[in-house]
Amino acid sequence: MKISIIGAGNVGGLTAMRLFEAGFGDIVLVDVAKGLAQGKAFDLEDASSIFKYNYRIQGTDDIEAIKDSNIIIVTAGLTRKPGMTREDLLNKNAQILKDICLVIKNISGQSIVIVVTNPLDLMTYLALKITGLKSNKVFGMGVSLDTARFTNLISKELNVPNTDIEACVIGSHGEEMLPLPRFTTVKGIELTEMLEDERIKVLVKKTLERGQEIVSLLGSGSAYFAPSQAIAAIVKIIVKDEKRLIGVSAYLNGEYGIKDICIGVPCRLGKEGIEKIIEFDLNKEERSLFINSVESIHKNLELIKPFCHGL
Ligand code: LAC
Repeated sequence: MKISIIGAGNVGGLTAMRLFEAGFGDIVLVDVAKGLAQGKAFDLEDASSIFKYNYRIQGTDDIEAIKDSNIIIVTAGLTRKPGMTREDLLNKNAQILKDICLVIKNISGQSIVIVVTNPLDLMTYLALKITGLKSNKVFGMGVSLDTARFTNLISKELNVPNTDIEACVIGSHGEEMLPLPRFTTVKGIELTEMLEDERIKVLVKKTLERGQEIVSLLGSGSAYFAPSQAIAAIVKIIVKDEKRLIGVSAYLNGEYGIKDICIGVPCRLGKEGIEKIIEFDLNKEERSLFINSVESIHKNLELIKPFCHGL
């Protein structure tokens, strides 16, 4: 198994560490910044002799090293500064993604591609169009992170362990994400029965703002511990063909009545990538919030299209 990570910043570097420690396969860490990926790879390699890992890690500034990867994780791109939305990153990151995806298309056309770069749903769509890979093979890590955040906040509010909670968030990995209290349970009991509406609303709002809250506290860069953990969870499902359900930004082709967009929905993942998109029976209110979320992505799709021209 060969797993490549493009972008060796905080998310990429920490993802490399998590995957390396899990022993999922040989890792290639790539970054355009000379020395960055190689330095982090050397550091991890040194750790491997202490823990007796047998897998190898290579760090390089040469993107050709991703050739014939089984899985490619794209974390490259600018991150938000305090006060910025994920959409503010669109133009710069679209160009970065385009260059990377053309290389993937040319030298690693059998890979599963996991997009992490923001704005997540738009970058996932762009990666899908540019690589020309099948839509089960290209998806984005976004709502599984949001779900983890919602879970954590519920756990603290109710004073119950995270492990007793099955939370659900769908929609964009952006301001219009959609935590779903009716599909969130605590030991099988709907959240709506455990907490008053007003308290749930506060938790939903906190979930939406969590990424921004962390950006503001850090001062520079965005979150990386939970994002890298969420990526590692997705990779584990694929590598071990676990067939678990997890939220990812997936290409919809009629599911939820929507076509030609990437957005966060629960999917069953396995060794081929997305095996099934799970469709919730949304009520009227949830449906209208989901459509808002779709529209928030849709309005920016036009800005992505120029990057797809001439392919
Ligand atoms: C966040 C970034 C990774 O939500 O989108 O923290």
